Amino acid sequence: MAETKRAAITAVGHYLPENRLTNHDLEQMVETDDEWIRTRTGIEERRILKDEDKATAFMGAEAAKELLDQRGVSADEIDVIIVATVTPDYLFPATACLVQSEIEAGNAYSFDVSAACSGFLYALTTGANFIESGRAQKVMVIGSDKMSSIVDYTDRSTCILFGDGAGAVLLEPSEDETGIIDYIHRSEGDTNLSLYQPAGGSLNPANEETVKNRLHYAKQDGRTVFKKATVGMADVSEEIMDKNDLSADDVAWLVPHQANLRIIDATANRMGLDKDKVMVNIDKYGNTTAATIPLCLYDWQNKLEHGDNLILAAFGGGYTWGSIYVKWALN
Ligand code: UT7
Repeated sequence: MAETKRAAITAVGHYLPENRLTNHDLEQMVETDDEWIRTRTGIEERRILKDEDKATAFMGAEAAKELLDQRGVSADEIDVIIVATVTPDYLFPATACLVQSEIEAGNAYSFDVSAACSGFLYALTTGANFIESGRAQKVMVIGSDKMSSIVDYTDRSTCILFGDGAGAVLLEPSEDETGIIDYIHRSEGDTNLSLYQPAGGSLNPANEETVKNRLHYAKQDGRTVFKKATVGMADVSEEIMDKNDLSADDVAWLVPHQANLRIIDATANRMGLDKDKVMVNIDKYGNTTAATIPLCLYDWQNKLEHGDNLILAAFGGGYTWGSIYVKWALN
């Protein structure tokens, strides 16, 4: 087996649909207003994948193709493809297998990770373990969600929050001290089901009643999730700093899951970080679930420097949450 090395992010790709759904558009659909949405969430618009014949695998594959181009590697060099999503094209087969066939990565094996808004973080550390063990040299980690497929556009408490998109990173053995240094993952069974999609699984398979009762859409008790998320994301971000002896000055960037600007601000405050060290693009894309963190990395990649300390953090349904300490390998 090859020598053990850290896993470094060596390329970033993305896909965002062209179509924009603004707060003003939503004012025409449900009883809401731009001011409420902006002040309570930080969101101004989101992207929506309109094409009915395209979904999560399409967006993931587009992000993957950009990644391959950027790194200049061919798809058949990829060993593993991991897709984090809560909106798979089908319950099975895995969306990762569909991405694999679309990009013609014939030598890879592929699987999905289901951890809602923490999905990208869980997938990233799963991918890193393949590199660290020496069993893989190139692992593609993709976060992709077509949230518009499970959003109820008659429910103002959820339809304002979510958007569609995908982001992808390539993991390869690090050549120096950069790479994924440490992580903390947590989960707790949310027995009250504060954030879930009631039907379509094996407990409530699709039938006339489930469709009539709109049970195939995401439901959220926003206030309960908000409280848990604010504490969970801040706790785990502070904990990873303490564990690695990082002061606020040592951290170049917080890369937070984009669910609500108020949750992001609370996390940054607890870490002692100024706003100019926090990646925020929720205003443009809303909550794209598994795609938020790689989309931030994509948008900020030109500002990142080799050796920058990044703290990635997320909280989501499950409940699931976590943080990852990454020393940036590119640039
Ligand atoms: O990414 C996965 C994890 N998810 C999250 O982290 C999301 C966490 N939750 C949240 O971000 C927030 O709870 C929301 C943005 C979803 C809601 O914000 P909030 O400040 O918690 O509002 P609320 O649910 O407590 O509702 C306050 C009021 C209510 O009216 P009353 O009962 O006070 O009269 C709602 O009916 O705002 C009303 N409301 C709205 N008003 C205008 C709820 N949605 C809307 C809306 N437009 N879209």
